[in-house]
Amino acid sequence: MYRIVKAEKLAEKIYQMIVEAPRVARACEPGEFVIVRIDERGERIPLTICDYDREAGTVTIVFQTVGASTERMARLQAGDAFRDLVGPLGQPSEFAHEPIEEVRSRKYLFVGGGVGTAPVYPQVKWMHEHGIDVDVIIGAKSKELVILEEQMKAVAGNLYVTTDDGSYGRSGMVTEVIRDLVQNQGRHYDVCVAIGPMIMMKFTCLLTKELGLKTIVSMNPVMVDGTGMCGACRLSVGGEVKFACVDGPEFDGHLVNFDEAMKRQQIYRTEEGRAMLREQEGETHHGGCGHCD
Ligand code: NAD
Ligand code: FES
Repeated sequence: MYRIVKAEKLAEKIYQMIVEAPRVARACEPGEFVIVRIDERGERIPLTICDYDREAGTVTIVFQTVGASTERMARLQAGDAFRDLVGPLGQPSEFAHEPIEEVRSRKYLFVGGGVGTAPVYPQVKWMHEHGIDVDVIIGAKSKELVILEEQMKAVAGNLYVTTDDGSYGRSGMVTEVIRDLVQNQGRHYDVCVAIGPMIMMKFTCLLTKELGLKTIVSMNPVMVDGTGMCGACRLSVGGEVKFACVDGPEFDGHLVNFDEAMKRQQIYRTEEGRAMLREQEGETHHGGCGHCD
C-alpha cells in the first residue's frame, strides 16, 4: 500500500497528493511517470511525476478529475492509501542523461499548459539544481486555474504567466507569449519543452517549426498497462509506430502526428472504436489491453 501523506486541491478539478513510495522516489527522474490504482479492481491511472523527495521517500502527483476513477481519487485524504503505485515508467527527459556541459550550453524555454504545468516543474527544478537558468511560460484558461506559480517562480530564471481570458498575468495563449519572446523581444532559445493538452502541443509545434526552434513534447494518450504490451498508447512519430509508455512519453514534437493522436484518443474510448483500430492497425495492433477481443 502507498500511503497519502498530504492531499490538497490546487484549483477547480485539479488535485495534488504527496504519496509514500520510497523506491520510486529513489529511482525517478524528470520526464517519467507512474501508474496508480486505488484498489484491486481500480482502473490504472497514468500520472506524470510532479516532484519527488528522495530522502523523505515520497513522490508528488497532480491530476485533474476527468471521470469516475479520478473523481474517486480526488476524495482520498491524507492517511488513505493507493493499492498500487507502479513506476518510474517511461524514458527520462533527454537532458537528464546528456553531458551537463552540453545542457548548460543551450538556452531552454519550458511551456506548461494547464495541468501540464505539473510535469514541467520537476524538469525546471532539475535545471535549477544544476545551476541552469531557464525561461518558463505557464498558461491557464483563467486566474483560478493557474497552478504551481510560487514553486515555479522559485526555480525558473524568468517566469511568464498568461491566461486565455486575461484575468491574470498576460492575456492570450502560450503560443502568443512564445511568439512575443522570440520575435518581439529577440530572445534566443535552442530547445523548447512544451507539455499540456495535445491541442496546445500541436499549435506550439506548428509555431516553433516556423521559428526553427527544436521542441520536445510529452505525450499523454490513453494508457492501459504502461509497459508496451497493450498498444493503447500507440503514436506515429516521424512516420514510425511508437508507444508513448516505453518509447516516450517525450518525443520530438516536430515529428509527432498530433492529428492522428487526437483522433485515436477519441476512437479508443468506445468498444466499436477499438474494434475499428484493430482492423486498421492489423498485426501492429497489440490488442493486449483485453478490451478488443
Ligand atoms: P487547458 O485547456 O486549460 O489549456 C492550457 C493552456 O494551453 C491554455 O491556457 C493555452 O495557453 C494553451 N492552449 C490550449 N489550446 C491551445 C491552442 N489551440 N493553441 C495554443 N495554445 C493552446 O488545459 P487543461 O484543461 O489543464 O488540460 C487538460 C489536458 O491536458 C488533458 O487533456 C490532460 O490529459 C492534458 N495533460 C497533458 C499532460 C502531458 O503530459 N502532456 C499532463 C497533464 C495533463
Ligand atoms: Fe503503452 Fe499499453 S500503455 S502499450
